Amino acid sequence: MLFELDDEQQEMRDVVRKFAQNEIAPHADSWDDEHHFPREIFKPLAELGLAGLLIPEEYGGLNLSRLMGAIIYEELAQADSSTSTWLSVHNMVAGLINRFGNDEQRQRWLPGMASGDLLGAFSLSEAHAGSDAANLRTSARREGDHYIVNGSKFWVTNAGQADVYTVMVRTDPNGGSKGISTLVIEKDTPGFSIGKIERKMGLNSDPTGELIFENCRVPVSHRLSDEGMGFKIALTALDGGRINIGASSVGLAQAAFDVATRYAKERQAFGKPIGAFQGIQFMLADMAMKIQAARLLVYQAASKYDDGAPDATMSAAMAKCFATDTAMAVTTDAVQVLGGAGYVRDWPVERYMREAKVGQIVEGANQIQRMVIARALLGRLDG
Ligand code: CAA
Repeated sequence: MLFELDDEQQEMRDVVRKFAQNEIAPHADSWDDEHHFPREIFKPLAELGLAGLLIPEEYGGLNLSRLMGAIIYEELAQADSSTSTWLSVHNMVAGLINRFGNDEQRQRWLPGMASGDLLGAFSLSEAHAGSDAANLRTSARREGDHYIVNGSKFWVTNAGQADVYTVMVRTDPNGGSKGISTLVIEKDTPGFSIGKIERKMGLNSDPTGELIFENCRVPVSHRLSDEGMGFKIALTALDGGRINIGASSVGLAQAAFDVATRYAKERQAFGKPIGAFQGIQFMLADMAMKIQAARLLVYQAASKYDDGAPDATMSAAMAKCFATDTAMAVTTDAVQVLGGAGYVRDWPVERYMREAKVGQIVEGANQIQRMVIARALLGRLDG
């Protein structure tokens, strides 16, 4: 069990912190206001190695551990949780191409992803299949050496900005969760278009939207692993993704806590700083406790994933659920500590609170995480 970062981890964290605080944090508010996707920072992030966290060195990546990834996402999210979110999805996609792809597929996509030329997106959900992901219907019918893909996908992070989409499709209409396969679909493939881009509560600088497939011809050679493996591939990727969302939520909560603490020391009421009152002190103490507990749970889940521990899936669910619930609670309390100043846009905490909410929903709603935890503890009692 890990309590302190080693020298290498601290060094990497410091490099990321410097970049995030200098190049990202000053723009986070305006990117959110203007709904601007900061593609211009993708290359600089890649130059630091951050677009290839899960890509082997031979393809230009850093091939870091999940634990190192968690430390990095925590730092990025302290500057801008939107950036941390889209980059973590990109890295998740690169990781699954590396893990489930063949040499030709790795060679085709991974170098460009590591260099910041190709942005990745992950697509599982559909209009009627969010939590019940195995119920997806987008079909891929085999015709010679192509699949003909028809249907639409929802809630896709990086929609319209990404170059490489990993899409879960139904190759066997009667196969249930075993009738799903994973295709890598490139942005300019004929028959593939971007539908509605959602208007959201937060994370406005990262587009979330719909993918539409109309007789879209995708080479069979763009399928990852065997037919029928898609659901397992998606959930394996999401185990890692959930750790990343947890790490981002810890960073977001830390950012809110830092603002609230500073404000509590500066803001005067009844002749003293409001931090002198126990009502505020106890809130700050609870916030700090929850953040530290969430951080340790995320680090532990990441270490278990790295070690291939048998309870890695449950640990990822615990970390995601606890850290995102923590971010929601801490950002809400930070707004409360700032009072009227917290509700207006001169301070970042109202944005933090809007951004925290999606963590409880994305990459498996927290009710699903609790279900995953309960199934691991009790077994399948529902048949
Ligand atoms: N890793 C690998 N395989 C797994 C797994 C995991 N974590 N969890 C389950 N599986 C396997 C099971 O072993 C089973 O295979 P076998 O039959 O061979 O044993 C198969 O998958 C089906 O599992 P279940 O019977 O448990 O399936 P289920 O239908 O009951 O669903 C669920 C399980 C946990 C509810 C799952 O559907 C789930 O996690 N739902 C939430 C989906 C989600 O997180 N969506 C967010 C997508 S993010 C996105 O789209 C946006 C973006 O941009 C990132």
